[in-house]
Amino acid sequence: MSGSAPTIEVLRQHLIDPEICIRCNTCEETCPSHAITHDLRNYVVDADKCNFCNDCISPCPTGAIDSWRQVDKAKRYTLVEQLAWDSLPPQTEVDAGTPAEMPKEIARITSVATAGQGGVAFPPWSAAHPYVNIYSIQKPAIATVSGNFRLTAGDASSDIRHIVLDFGGTALPVLEGQTIGVQPPGLDPSGKPHHVRLYSVASPREGERPRYNNLSLTVKRVTEDHAGTPVVGVASNYLCDLKKGDQVKVVGPYGTTFLMPNHPGSSLLMVCTGTGSAPMRAMTERRRRRIALKEGGELMLFFGARLEGELPYFGPLMKLPNDFIDINFAFSRVPGQPKHYVQDRIRERSADVARLLADESCYVYICGLKGMEQGIDEAFRDACRENGKDWGAVLPNLRAQGRYHVETY
Ligand code: A2P
Repeated sequence: MSGSAPTIEVLRQHLIDPEICIRCNTCEETCPSHAITHDLRNYVVDADKCNFCNDCISPCPTGAIDSWRQVDKAKRYTLVEQLAWDSLPPQTEVDAGTPAEMPKEIARITSVATAGQGGVAFPPWSAAHPYVNIYSIQKPAIATVSGNFRLTAGDASSDIRHIVLDFGGTALPVLEGQTIGVQPPGLDPSGKPHHVRLYSVASPREGERPRYNNLSLTVKRVTEDHAGTPVVGVASNYLCDLKKGDQVKVVGPYGTTFLMPNHPGSSLLMVCTGTGSAPMRAMTERRRRRIALKEGGELMLFFGARLEGELPYFGPLMKLPNDFIDINFAFSRVPGQPKHYVQDRIRERSADVARLLADESCYVYICGLKGMEQGIDEAFRDACRENGKDWGAVLPNLRAQGRYHVETY
């Protein structure tokens, strides 16, 4: 027998738990080194690209991203292996050599947790405590459909629905701004159960109907992708076709930062398109039900849609008093009229927008098409400039104070 065994290099490999992951794409969008990719089934981490920055950890709604295995670096799990997993492999014994990546990685975790910048988002200081991850794919909550109403006009090109789910005796506490996951029944083309899709809750915390233990979702029937290519959205078509009395598997709730402030005098500046209106409806409805308390604060809404008939909740929004909410619609496809986007309306209202952005009691919420993010950022910049303020200084402040919340898809 000769000498000692060769020393191996131990890697603490970053992985994603396929059993908990709800495939919301947040990690892939967040990862600055493009280490995260996915196929139709799994989200996976490329060990050769992951630099342990941990930017992806806090935005993940389920915690699936926070999965690690100590492996022999030479035998790290490949992308092909990870894509085939239904669950994480067990931690196996690794003959400890030098854990080369560990100190660096741990140091980074500490710095992210304390930095309060970049990828780390905060809820408003007065937000209520959210419950998360109460129900999982293994143990979902079963809801019964108590309503499914079309929100868009009969002749509208999009079918957007208001779906009410009743949880009966099952507790599923949600706050405005949180999401739940829905698992469509059946199997995907590879013979495995469909993965979960996330939807923002459209009702306030006391429920669609107070004391009824229900909640509502705003769901658009997906018939084409962003490029206009025909596709059938598995979950959205399943949800839009649901009938009263049908049962639905629900997981979650998720979301710890896109939450509304609760202190009297706090204001909401909301910008949305299409079904991005769901959390705005939840927050507005929460405030509407408390009007009599005269808690103060302003509500300002910028809402974009192709046409009036395509805008979910158009009728109910029009009934809200002007002194309760300042509504600014942006319609992009009105025949004979120029295209208007939410960012155009923001510029038209630049004085009020700049005043609210600088107001420490105002909280900003953006939800809808990913494409609008840049346009809104530029419109906020212009609004600030016109009113003697510097967006470059205002934005980091908003973020650090938990006053800037973006959810786009
Ligand atoms: P458009 O008519 O150019 O598609 P949708 O109905 O597809 O959900 O879109 C909702 C609204 O958002 C539509 O008015 C759409 O306009 C608009 N929109 C599309 N792209 C952007 C963008 N980059 N910024 C702001 N609004 C946008």
